[in-house]
Parts: sequence; structure tokens; C-alpha cells
Amino acid sequence: MTSISTLLPTYATIDLAALAYNLSQIKRCLSPTCDIMAIVKANAYGHGAVETAHALARQGIKRFAVASLDEGIALRHAGLSASIVVLGALLEDQVPDLLAHQLTPVISDGHILPTLAKAARSQPAPYPIHLKVETGMGRLGFSPEELLSLLDDPILRNPLQIEGLMTHLADADGTDSAFTERQLGIFRSMLEQARQHGLTIPFLHTANSAAIVRFPDAHFSLVRPGLMLYGYHTLPPSISAPNLKPVLSLQSTIVQLRSIPSGGTVSYNRTFVAQRPTRIAVLPIGYADGYSRRLSYRGSVLIQGRRAPIIGLVCMDMIMIDVTDLGPVRVGEIVTLIGQQGGESIWADEVADWIDTIPYEILCGIGPRVPRIYETAARDERDHE
Ligand SMILES: Cc1ncc(COP(=O)(O)O)c(C=O)c1O
Repeated sequence: MTSISTLLPTYATIDLAALAYNLSQIKRCLSPTCDIMAIVKANAYGHGAVETAHALARQGIKRFAVASLDEGIALRHAGLSASIVVLGALLEDQVPDLLAHQLTPVISDGHILPTLAKAARSQPAPYPIHLKVETGMGRLGFSPEELLSLLDDPILRNPLQIEGLMTHLADADGTDSAFTERQLGIFRSMLEQARQHGLTIPFLHTANSAAIVRFPDAHFSLVRPGLMLYGYHTLPPSISAPNLKPVLSLQSTIVQLRSIPSGGTVSYNRTFVAQRPTRIAVLPIGYADGYSRRLSYRGSVLIQGRRAPIIGLVCMDMIMIDVTDLGPVRVGEIVTLIGQQGGESIWADEVADWIDTIPYEILCGIGPRVPRIYETAARDERDHE
């Protein structure tokens, strides 16, 4: 019988039961009146935006956020009718497409407002927007003074309507909470100013994953979890984090085995020189799939439930593994690069540590060439502290 690995030698498995579990863990941190805007930008952190968003919608999520217009349009084309907020900065030329797909913009500076207001006049009802105030991320958003001078503008009542006021926290997963408290203080004072200008804004949102756990004061009426949905967090060890289950596993398959003598070399520039007769397994995954070249010599994979090291430089489409110390292995055998095999596991946060980055980058980096396979059955052994 043809196995999945023969058809797809390298693939990611997305455990939708784990996604639902993580969502339920997030909900446990929130008051019943606090809504959730699921962050599905960057292809839902590599998990596949369309399937992930639909799976979350089946779990009752009604609000989604993406980074860019094209990400929002792709979700609309895939039939997602829920609210989709575009977090990233927009250009005036993008306004017609934004409205055509009923996507909700985050407005971070005033330049786009006249164009947006003009286009919104053709809409049957005031067009929802979210305003972003910059409180310390040093990135997108109105300064508090700029926002204040905008609050009396009649276009914010009609043809536009402020559905949300937001800021982004720079250090919610840092060791010191002082900067976050300061950002939240600025946000609260902007909120107060908006109220004094007669504005009632339904969705007030500041909290990413870390802030959901750590700063209940940051929840307001809506939170914006990304990473925790996918089963990871970057909280400092002093903070007790919810139990989460990693959603994505990454597998490949041994496509060739070879033996090289002592002194034989492997991969570009011959940086690996065998110190003993060495058995090598070749896997069809490389940096073009998001398996970083920086993992050369740092990474390991799981074969038969045991760790085996990458040797030689990671290539565009292949990596080589030293399987000398394993028992007999065969071509066609499945190898786990992220996930669990037997009693051993390697999750994206460990891969991130090997190359001094964060699990976000490992997950988002998994490229379009890697097919995603969606599983719905629960896999309890994948509990992840
Ligand atoms: C504006 C905004 N909100 C929320 C998130 C989600 O953050 P996290 O994945 O840490 O939950 C992000 C992600 O970068 C973001 O840019």
C-alpha cells in the first residue's frame, strides 16, 4: 500500500484538536465578556491560514487578523465571512480592494483617511476601522497627540466608524513588567480622551499571547492571541504559563542511505569530514522549505524515536543526517524534524534555541513547498509544558 510519506516525502501535520485545546486554554484566562481576535497572519504562523481560520471559526471565533491586504483577500476568497482586520499599514491604492473585500483596516496614521472616507461614502453603513495608538513599540500608530487632534474629526462618525482602538505591547514577555504598565497607562488615558469626545468604541485591544497570561488589565474587550493558539509561549520562566499543545509537526522521509569511509566529506564546501566510517541518511528538506541553513551542525532530527545529528551544511533542498549510531534504518523511513516520535520530542522552541531565534520564526518560516496535512483526532501524548 502507498503510504503518505511515499506521496509526500516532506510534510507538516497540523493537529486541529491541539488548536482547539489551545483556544480553550486561552479562554480560561479571559472573562466571559472578552472576545478573541485570532491572529492568522503569516499563513497562520505557518499552519495554513485558510484551514486554520476555518477550524477556529468552527470553534466559534468570529474575529481574525492578518498582516496584509493580500492575506485578507485570500481568506475572503476561501469563503471566510467573519470580521478580518488588516493589522499592517495600508497604502491609498489599496483602499478599493480593502472595501471590495469588506476588510477592516487598522489606521496608524492620517494620510489614508481622506481616501478611505471618500470610498466609504458608497457603503450602505459607516465603514468600521480600528485606530492604533503608538505607546512604546516604536513602530506603527498615531502618537497620543496626533490621535487626540483627530478625535473630533466628523469622518470618524460617518462615513467611517471607530470599531476598535488598539495598541501593541513591546515587552509583554520581558522579565520586567514596568514598560508594559506604562504602555497600558498611555492607552487608558487615550481611551478616556476618546470617551470625553463622545466616542463609544466597542473593541479595545492591546493583549498578545504573553499579555493574555500575564496582564489581565490588558484584556479590555478583545485580545489578539497568535503564538499561544499554535501551542507555544515566550513567557519568562517566573510566569506560570497555561498548558499548551504544539499544533504543527514537521516530517520528512529518508530518500537515500550511503556509507562513507573515514575521511569522506559531506555537503557543500566539504565542511564535514568523517572521523570514522559513517552511515548517512539524506532527507528531502532544506532551507528552501524554511529549514534554516543555520541549523547546519546545530540541529538534530528524530529517527526511530532517537535523536540523530545534521552533518554538513544544510542545502537548499536536502539535509544529511548521521545515522551511524542508530540501529538499521531504511529508505522510506519517516523522520521527525519538529514533533514527537516514541518518547522523544523536538518542538519548535527547541529548534529556535539551537539557532538563537524564537519559535515564531521557525513556524512562519516553513515554506509553501511543504504540504500541510490536517488532522482532527486528539493526540494526548503531545502535551507540552
Ligand atoms: C499587532 C499584533 N497583535 C497581536 C499579535 C500576536 O502576538 P502573539 O503571537 O505573541 O500572540 C501580533 C503578532 O506579532 C501583532 O503584530
